Amino acid sequence: MKAIVVTDEAAGTAGMTLVERPEPAAAINDVIVEIHASGFVPTELAWPSTWSDRRGRDRTPSIPGHELAGVVSALGYGTAGVSVGQRVFGLADWYRDGTLAEYVAIEARNLAPLPGDVEFTVGASLPISGLTAWQGLFDHGHLQAGQSVLAHGAAGAVGTMVTQLAREAGAYVIGTGRAADRQKALDFGAQEFVDLENDALEDVGGVDLVFDVIGGDIQKRSAGLIRSGGTLVTVVGLPEARPADGLAVDFVVESDRAQLGEIVQRVRDGRLRTNIGYVATLDDAVAALNPTERHTGKPILRIRP
Ligand SMILES: NC(=O)c1ccc[n+]([C@@H]2O[C@H](COP(=O)([O-])OP(=O)(O)OC[C@H]3O[C@@H](n4cnc5c(N)ncnc54)[C@H](OP(=O)(O)O)[C@@H]3O)[C@@H](O)[C@H]2O)c1
Repeated sequence: MKAIVVTDEAAGTAGMTLVERPEPAAAINDVIVEIHASGFVPTELAWPSTWSDRRGRDRTPSIPGHELAGVVSALGYGTAGVSVGQRVFGLADWYRDGTLAEYVAIEARNLAPLPGDVEFTVGASLPISGLTAWQGLFDHGHLQAGQSVLAHGAAGAVGTMVTQLAREAGAYVIGTGRAADRQKALDFGAQEFVDLENDALEDVGGVDLVFDVIGGDIQKRSAGLIRSGGTLVTVVGLPEARPADGLAVDFVVESDRAQLGEIVQRVRDGRLRTNIGYVATLDDAVAALNPTERHTGKPILRIRP
């Protein structure tokens, strides 16, 4: 099969190459998915799981990409809950070969049914951004209607999901980002926008929940804005700051079939819009994933026409 591989951690996305690899075999509880579209988070090449296995051994050449939408083509021993020919989407294991390829072996529990009226490219854009937003807001942030959310990077892949899901849950959303992102963040439902390059973050006043996708100084200054009993949720590493009277939580997104179902249902009924940046083919992927100018939105590969 055709697949993108990486072997050189220092090279980042520039080290990606398109090669021929053996098709994966299905282990216990696995399925093989014929991938139709994949999502990619450029920062994943900085994650240790791209380079080593769970015992810390080198696992290169590794196939990056953890989001997929496709059709089940084979079942492993003992696999239940999905069937050959079924349309699925989901989040692949961080430590196994991923989804920038024509096929992937993946545990069935990491997949959810993809309804027939949802395009594969849309399905592939949802798992990481949708589940991260869902789990950060509801599982870790315990968001309640009437609370306020500071959604950093609100025009980004995760941030647009955070904004929409928080609004639907009855929260007041203040988005942040670069000056050029203002209109996009407002279009996705942010009620205010803070341009982190020109506005004073501190003018926001108090908020109940900070959803951090940036870290560093922005995270530290945001912690100071959190009201008593509020929460800082971050997805970019261990928290570097804590609210004076609240919680700081970091987490790595996990696949969840029921949550994937909630997310895709919202896409179908118009409550949730996805934020696809560009769609490239597998043959064009190395160039597309190494853009020479700023791209916004989620990069998607269409693996099959
Ligand atoms: N722990 C987890 O489970 C998990 C899950 C998903 C994502 N993540 C992480 O979350 C981060 C965001 O992911 P994503 O897919 O949403 O990325 P994304 O689509 O690039 O969104 C991030 C947004 O924040 C903006 N931004 C970043 N730094 C900024 C700054 N200093 N000032 C103003 N705006 C800034 C970006 O603008 P520019 O593009 O111009 O920088 C972009 O619009 C990544 O680091 C990713 O690895 C973690």
